[in-house]
Amino acid sequence: MDKVVRACPRAIILTMNKQIPVIIFGAGGVGRALLQQIVEGRETVATRNQLYFNVVAVADSRRWLWQPAGMADEQLLAVIQAKKTRQNLGVERPDGVTIIEQAAQAGLENGIVVDVTALEGMEPVLDKALAIGWGVVLANKKALAGPWATAQRYFNNPRVRHESTVGGGQPVIATLRYLLDTSDPILRIEGQMSGTLGYICQRLDTGLPFSQAIAEAKAFGYTEPDPREDLGGLDVMRKILILGRMAGWGLDSADIAVESLYHPSLAHLSVPEFMTASRALDPSMADRVKVAHANNTVLRYVAELSAEGGSVGLKALPATSGLANLKYISFQTGRYEDEPLLIGGKGAGVSMTAAGVHGDMIDFGREITN
Ligand SMILES: NC(=O)c1ccc[n+]([C@@H]2O[C@H](COP(=O)([O-])OP(=O)(O)OC[C@H]3O[C@@H](n4cnc5c(N)ncnc54)[C@H](OP(=O)(O)O)[C@@H]3O)[C@@H](O)[C@H]2O)c1
Repeated sequence: MDKVVRACPRAIILTMNKQIPVIIFGAGGVGRALLQQIVEGRETVATRNQLYFNVVAVADSRRWLWQPAGMADEQLLAVIQAKKTRQNLGVERPDGVTIIEQAAQAGLENGIVVDVTALEGMEPVLDKALAIGWGVVLANKKALAGPWATAQRYFNNPRVRHESTVGGGQPVIATLRYLLDTSDPILRIEGQMSGTLGYICQRLDTGLPFSQAIAEAKAFGYTEPDPREDLGGLDVMRKILILGRMAGWGLDSADIAVESLYHPSLAHLSVPEFMTASRALDPSMADRVKVAHANNTVLRYVAELSAEGGSVGLKALPATSGLANLKYISFQTGRYEDEPLLIGGKGAGVSMTAAGVHGDMIDFGREITN
């Protein structure tokens, strides 16, 4: 079967399956993994869903490749290689809204715009895509976690998919959607939603000073290039805010208390300066760990939310609790009131995140073809 499909000329594969034009904003870790999965998943996606994702544009921060008839898989693989080796992509790009307009003028319909950037301010691009009848798939949380007044149009919108925004590839959003679709009221959401902070907390348990745990996580590539982006808790806050908004709570970021794991006085240092200065955080963190251990608990970075608001920060969990060592999200609902519904397991990483995006694309494609 494998050989048959690979030997098929692209033109035949195109006519055999429903073509979905795709524009991808972002060609970083997740964007490249997504391109790889689109190419490697051709046969499965065609066999199971009779779909063909026709990538017509890939844009990074400055440049883009545009091919309204769609790029061959060899070109997509060349994009991955070029970005990996820091070569330039195509030509200088127009702004995002113009890109969508150009696709509409080229007669491309029922396509998907994928946002795998980490940008704020993508809303006009997403709105333009929705206005011309396309779907939007997001790994980027910023538009969903912006002020409620602007973000609310992306919730309860069947053409906006964002499985990867919480839990990487874990089916967190799909599960919450199912609970909501079947009229199960959401009472409380809780979870350890940062693999990076989970790792650091576990290293603190072994007696490692906080600054060294941060340095280690950075050296392994677990943190953002600037670890303060993880330690500040905003990314976790965005995740729980997105879940709360899906649950029907029109909350804003101000409704969630965020505990940053570094002092504001360290905010303006360069990354190397911060790495050195973070040693000043060691004694107070060591004290907190000691108190937690004395009470048979461990510190974990936990997000909690209900209709009234919530918090994101360090919490002492029983050391023997299964949750202490699990990246999890739990939903307490009308039906799961005494025993919350739990989703746990590995969720982070570019490949899991890209799989969540790819899954959303398939879901959307299946829906518009039926
Ligand atoms: N990495 C994960 O495990 C993970 C997990 C869950 C969610 N996410 C989310 O997924 C998104 C992507 O993550 P990542 O790790 O792939 O980030 P990344 O490696 O930093 O890549 C970001 C990409 O966005 C591009 N970009 C910046 N401005 C742009 C613009 N105006 N138009 C188009 N592209 C633009 C960058 O272009 P250049 O190449 O020119 O710099 C880069 O290719 C983020 O929102 C992140 O929070 C990531």
